[in-house]
Amino acid sequence: MITYDQLLELMLSRRSVRRFDERAVSREDLDRLLEAARWAPSNHNRQPWRFMVLDDRAQIRELAEQVRLGMERKLQALPEVAAVHAAGLVQYGTFFSAAPVLIVAMHKLPIAAAAPLWDGTRNPELVSGEPLSVAMAMQNILLAAHTLGLGACVMTAPLLADDLTTLLQVPPGFAITGLIALGYADGAVSIPRRKSLAHIAEFANL
Ligand SMILES: Cc1cc2nc3c(=O)[nH]c(=O)nc-3n(C[C@H](O)[C@H](O)[C@H](O)COP(=O)(O)O)c2cc1C
Repeated sequence: MITYDQLLELMLSRRSVRRFDERAVSREDLDRLLEAARWAPSNHNRQPWRFMVLDDRAQIRELAEQVRLGMERKLQALPEVAAVHAAGLVQYGTFFSAAPVLIVAMHKLPIAAAAPLWDGTRNPELVSGEPLSVAMAMQNILLAAHTLGLGACVMTAPLLADDLTTLLQVPPGFAITGLIALGYADGAVSIPRRKSLAHIAEFANL
């Protein structure tokens, strides 16, 4: 069993990596990451995840190009978005163009039989728990990747492209939770600041 300090060290040193060198990721390492994902907690142990691994660089590049077009279309429709912010957002959603691997994480949609439970609930999936389960599996992948010397970055900005589900041929009954760009980091990555504990947590007495 690893200690708290070892775990914290692992979590503190993980970074979102957005630039990758030319090295390919081995199939063995990809299997290790998916194995880590498999052991995440999930709602009713339903394991509502599905992962699609893309490792054809040309395909990934083409997908990023389609996402760029989709995001630009979307952002053009929002006049209040300043052009400078739009450009940054498109970059945030398409940097994966040069990634050697892209993992598409998908969650099952909540089961239809439970629909009456969702009456009046603003966001049924949050109550049902499928996206959260998949998010936990994605964090397992990020941490496992870090132990293997790989760099990764979770992305949801590409979901702004309306046709992403079609482009990725997402199976019926599933939705995209997010994407993970993966590879070997090219250069160091700076450490984004964190809010202080006092800022984010309180010991409450209701
Ligand atoms: C739900 C979620 C969505 C994210 N989407 C994107 C994204 O679309 N593009 C991107 O470059 N980074 C994305 N990130 C990465 C964050 O920008 C990053 O985690 C944050 O800046 C903190 O940096 P760190 O991961 O290195 O600690 C996302 C992270 C999360 C958790």
